[in-house]
Parts: sequence; structure tokens; C-alpha cells
Amino acid sequence: MKRYPLIPTLLAICLVNLATAQTNLIPRPAALSLTQGTMDLQCPLSVRAGSEVDPALVELIRADLELTLSPSLQECMDPNELSLDLIRPDTLLPPEWYSLTVTTKHIALVAVDEAGLYRGSRTLAQLFEEGRTSTELPCMSITDSPRFPWRGMHLDASRHFWTVEFTKKYIDLLARYKMNSFHWHLTDDQGWRIEIKKHPKLTEVGAWRKGSQVGPYSRREYDSTTYGGFYTQDQIKEVVAYAKARYINVVPEIEMPGHALAALAAYPELGCTGGHYEVNKGWGVFEEVFCAGNDSTVHFLEDVLTEVMALFPSEIIHIGGDECPKESWKKCPKCQARMKAKGLKDEHELQSDFIQRIEAFVNSKGRKIIGWDEILEGGLAPNAAVMSWRGTEGGVAAAKQKHNVVMSPGSHCYFDHYQGDPANEPLAIGGYTTVQKVYSYEPIPTELNAEEAKYILGAQGNVWTEYILTPEHVEYMAVPRMLALAEVLWTPKAKRNEADFIHRLENEFPKLEAMKVNASKSLYQVSIRPKQGPKPGEIAVEMTLASGGSFSMTEMAPPYDESMAGLAVYSAPVIINSDRELHGWIQREGLTGPISKRRFLFNKATAQKITLSEPPNERYAEGGAFTLVDGITAGEKRVNTEWLGWRGSVTITVDLGSEQDVRTAGIGALNETYSWIHMPDQVEFSTSNDGKTFALQGSQKVKPGVGRRAFKFDVVAKTRYVRFTVKHPGKIPEGYPGAGNPAWMFLDEIEVR
Ligand code: ACM
Ligand code: ZN
Repeated sequence: MKRYPLIPTLLAICLVNLATAQTNLIPRPAALSLTQGTMDLQCPLSVRAGSEVDPALVELIRADLELTLSPSLQECMDPNELSLDLIRPDTLLPPEWYSLTVTTKHIALVAVDEAGLYRGSRTLAQLFEEGRTSTELPCMSITDSPRFPWRGMHLDASRHFWTVEFTKKYIDLLARYKMNSFHWHLTDDQGWRIEIKKHPKLTEVGAWRKGSQVGPYSRREYDSTTYGGFYTQDQIKEVVAYAKARYINVVPEIEMPGHALAALAAYPELGCTGGHYEVNKGWGVFEEVFCAGNDSTVHFLEDVLTEVMALFPSEIIHIGGDECPKESWKKCPKCQARMKAKGLKDEHELQSDFIQRIEAFVNSKGRKIIGWDEILEGGLAPNAAVMSWRGTEGGVAAAKQKHNVVMSPGSHCYFDHYQGDPANEPLAIGGYTTVQKVYSYEPIPTELNAEEAKYILGAQGNVWTEYILTPEHVEYMAVPRMLALAEVLWTPKAKRNEADFIHRLENEFPKLEAMKVNASKSLYQVSIRPKQGPKPGEIAVEMTLASGGSFSMTEMAPPYDESMAGLAVYSAPVIINSDRELHGWIQREGLTGPISKRRFLFNKATAQKITLSEPPNERYAEGGAFTLVDGITAGEKRVNTEWLGWRGSVTITVDLGSEQDVRTAGIGALNETYSWIHMPDQVEFSTSNDGKTFALQGSQKVKPGVGRRAFKFDVVAKTRYVRFTVKHPGKIPEGYPGAGNPAWMFLDEIEVR
């Protein structure tokens, strides 16, 4: 490489800053400096390598770069005007490390391992895409290596099934952003997706369900269309080989002992009761699990794992281990007999015993297991790694016990969660994890010292697909959040900068579009939030854009005819006192964001003075008391900002401002027992003209049904104050998830007419 020692330091610093501005690489390399000159990308490039580099890798890199480069031959002197040398020196450097030196005619890509050459070639491919628009690539020098050895993405192929073709497209995305682990969730209650030759009914029966849950969980509605699919062993090999060529390890997950219904439907004798079992139509956690007291169940799973290990070269095999209810084991004579014989004090120890038997088998074949953090309960298997999903505690506990850990906490790594204001997003399981939040993630928990931190291998983004039905929707949920995670895992912590990342991401969107990847632009979504207005009865609608900058808005009155909408640039909160719909969206050169919409409906209580006898629980208190009179009736997509949650009774009083004729009054409550949310025991409605003495107008007991239920009272009264006295249901009754714990009571919009 030529050197230019005379460049003054100041200029060099400018050039380094320029380098960041001029290259939109994701993930950002550890070190990049611009040198003098440019490479003319209109000329053809010859890729050269010595015999120490696998010819298949050379061919793959050549093919990929040709795709991005498309030179116009005529303008060049020599058909091999530009050259790229792939070099593997015989020196000691970290795995996946590479250096890339671009001069005017020549590129040297150096790495000690082929994975490093491949990662470097991804950098080069992105640089060529950049250069293609200007036809020039600035000369530069990069040295780069990953911060973490496990940079993963997961895909749930059970809840919904993805073709081999789409799975490869997903792997392409991992490859592009230098991720190196693909966690393939192949079995669950709703479908067994991998052919096992010794036990063919796993796919003949277990791969098919008689319908699927549709819509929000709270509705419990199902269609009756047979749904399913599975991968033949040849298809599995094809995907594994495709990933391997891109230096991506495929970690198969075979769920046990829970999430086993698809397998039990195929082989009922593997369960505690022998059936009847069916591949599940609905989402959730189910009591029917593999019997942990039956040796033949363990032998069956050993057969399965034997075939799995033959298909997947991965050193680590994922055995699930999460969400295994213990009810059927408590009632099962075989499970109880094993507990007695082995001196196991509870069912958690029985689960640990089960996992340890599986681990011993996997270890005997020279492989290791990883499991979700529940495998810590009842004692961790001796060599097991832990995937920490229920927060970071599991990861911390495992690292302190000197076990390897992959972090995947729901808070930052669950890409099935909402990524924008749920009011404007397709139905998701819940949560709220923006791309910025993912970018802020630090995989090393603060509780760990430097020695313990070494056990954190990295992190992984999870894409569970209960509510994801199409490949386009998978892409929407995964991208761009996986880009943020890729940078968290690759780039040195000190080099991470959110504003810089968001800027590079903006340049990445057109490329994703060209690759026909349906990336989410929720980052550019306008958030529309109601606040108490300056006077009672007025709402101040505040609109914000997380990515900053100006945006357009319209305000519409009924009948919400778009042609009547006035268009404006948002400048200040919009004050409204009657029914309105507001839209907001960003539009600037090359970038149109999604349109956010909010409709506000007024009744006599809307935006009036409201008081609570007890504040809501801090976990579900975001919008405060105003939430109950904010003009928005909480949707079925359960959103923290739309519902208030209590774990006790509450009295709610609204001052209507003056004496009013009232004919009906109501308040909404949510019944979602799966999430521990139960109906109030009783709601009383009373009225008053002085705000002190209240006259009882009616009382209602718990409403049957699921989802949002309104407690509605027909009254004829002239009143200034209205009051709802809402009685908490107490502890969750037996037979419901969370039995014995205090129930959540969720309330929302008050309606007075
Ligand atoms: C999980 O999300 N149940 C691992
Ligand atoms: Zn049993």
C-alpha cells in the first residue's frame, strides 16, 4: 500500500470523519481511514487467490461482487484493470478478523481464516454498491473484527412455515450484516418441521394442524384451514450448506420437554397420559409435554437428535427447555416414580434430570447443548450453554456459574414485538422495541465482572411467528432491527453512535428495496399522542417523530373525507374539542414514511377533570388518569399507553364541568386471563352534583367473555360528577395462568352521554 506520510494530522482527522460520512457500512468497521485517490468502478475486476483459499469461496465472492459491480468494459484500458487479491497469511490473528486495502487499481483483502475473507467481502460488496452511484470508490484502509463470536438471528418455522427459498433469503440478510449464527426453531406445539426418517409420523401427523388462531390472542378465534409443511432432510442439508458457504452456523432447535404437542399428536405414547393430543391451532403454553419419567421418551428423543446431529454440523444443538408446565408430571405415576427413585425433590429437578440425560447423550456424540434460561431451574446441566430470554437474570446466573451464555432478552431482542406505535403497526404479540432501543442494547450485563463477562458469547434477535403470516411480514419485523443488533454485536462499543447509525440506515433503505426486502420504516413513523388540553374538554394532540425533522399532517372532521383534509407542516400540538382524525407522515427526498392515523371521539367525559382514589400500578400507568378520558378507546392490541392497570380496587370520579343530562355511562375493562388480566369483580356507578354526596345509580357484576368488555349503565340523571367504583377481583382463581397471584385489572375509556 502506498503511504502519504506528509498529510498533516488535521487533514487526516478530516479525512477520517469524511470516511464515516462517505461510507454507509453496516455494521460500522472497527477502523477505517481514507487514503488518497479513487478506484474507477466502471472497470472490470478480477478476483485472484492462492491455493490456500477454498475455490468455492473465491467463486462465491466473485459472483457476489460481479452482481454489485456491473462494469462498462469499453472505458477501461485492460480487461483486468482492477484486481482483488484474497490473501490468507500464515500468522496469528483473531477469528473473522480481516483487513481491506483499496488503492486506485488494486484491492487486498487479508484474513487468516476463510470466515474473515468472507466478512471482508461483505464490506467490499457494500462499498461497491456505494461506489456504483458515483462510479468511484475512495481509496481506503480498513481493519476489522467482531466484538462477539455469536451474532445471531432466530426464525420460528413452527407457528408459520417458511419455504427453503425464503429461508435462504433470510440467511442472505444475516450474511450481509456479518451475522454468523442462524437459530432455526423447527419444532413446537403448532407443527413439527423436520423430517426424521426413523419416526415418520413426526411429519406425517405432526407437521399439520387443523386450523390456526386468527387475530388478537384475546379473541380466541380460529380458522379451520389445514396448515403445515416440513423440510425434507435433503432440504435441510441444502439450507445448512447454503449457510455454511456464507460462514453462518445453523443451530437447530428441537423443543423439549415442553412445546411438544406436535410430537405428541404423532406419538401419543411419549406423553404422560397417552393422549388424546392434537397439533395445536392456538398460541400459548400447554400442559401436555413429554413424559419425563418414561425411558422410551428419552430414547425416542435420542433417535431424533441422532438424525439432527447428522444433518447439522453445529457444535451446539438447541434443546429448547422453556415454558414447560409441570402439571402433567405432578399427576403422572411414571414421572413421580422417577422423582422418588432419583431423590428429586420437585418437578424442576425432574426437568433438570431430563435435560441432563439429553445433555449426556449429546455430549457423548461430541456436541454440546444450549437451552432457554429455564434450564437453570432445578440445576444446570454440567456443560450446557444458556440462552437468556426472560430478561438478563438467567444469563447473569449462568455466566457466574461459568457457563456460556447467549443473550436474547425480550426487552431488546424480541423482534416479534411492536417497533412503532402499536396503533399504526400490524398486529403483534405485544411489547414495544424500536430500532433505537435495539441499538442501545449492551449485551454484557453490568452485574458481571470482566472474568464472568467472557462467558457472554454474544446475542441473538428472535423472530417468533404466531402473528407473522407472510415472508414480507418476517422481513418487516426483522429489518431494520437486525441491522441494529448486528452493529451492537460486531462494532467496538466505543465506535457505536446512534445518530450515525440512523444516518447510515437511511442510505440502506433504498438498497433493501432493491433487494426486495420489505424493511419497516416505523422509524419514520409519526407518533400521535393525546395530552390534556389547555381547558377541560380539550385534547392537545402532540405529534412527534423519533428520527427528528419536520413532517406533514392533516386534520379531518367526520365523515373523515380525505379530500376535505387540510395539509400542513406540523408545528405545535393541535387542540381539539370534538371528533377528529389526525394523520401524520414524513416525506422528503427519497424517503416516504408510513402514515400514522389517530381518531379521537368525544363524549361528555372526554378530557374533563378526572381523579383516582388509587394510582394505577407503575407498570401500567404511562398516560396517567387522563388515559381514561383521552378520546381513544383502548384497542385489542394491548398497549401500555391505552390501558391503565391496577392490582387493587379504585374509585374514579369525573367532573363534567357543569350539570349535564346523562342517559348512559360506561367504562371499559379487559379480560385476557392468559396475561393474568381479569375482569373487575363489580362496578358501581353513582352521580353527584356537589362532588361529595353520591347517589348510587347501578351496580354490575363481572362480565362474561374475553377481550374488551364495557360496563354500561342506563340512567336518567342531571349530574355534574360521575363516579365508577371498581372492585378488584383479588387473586387469580385455580385453573387460570398465574393462579394464586394477584390479578391485573385493566381499565380504559369512560363514556358518558
Ligand atoms: C421463549 O420465548 N419462549 C423462549
Ligand atoms: Zn410422565
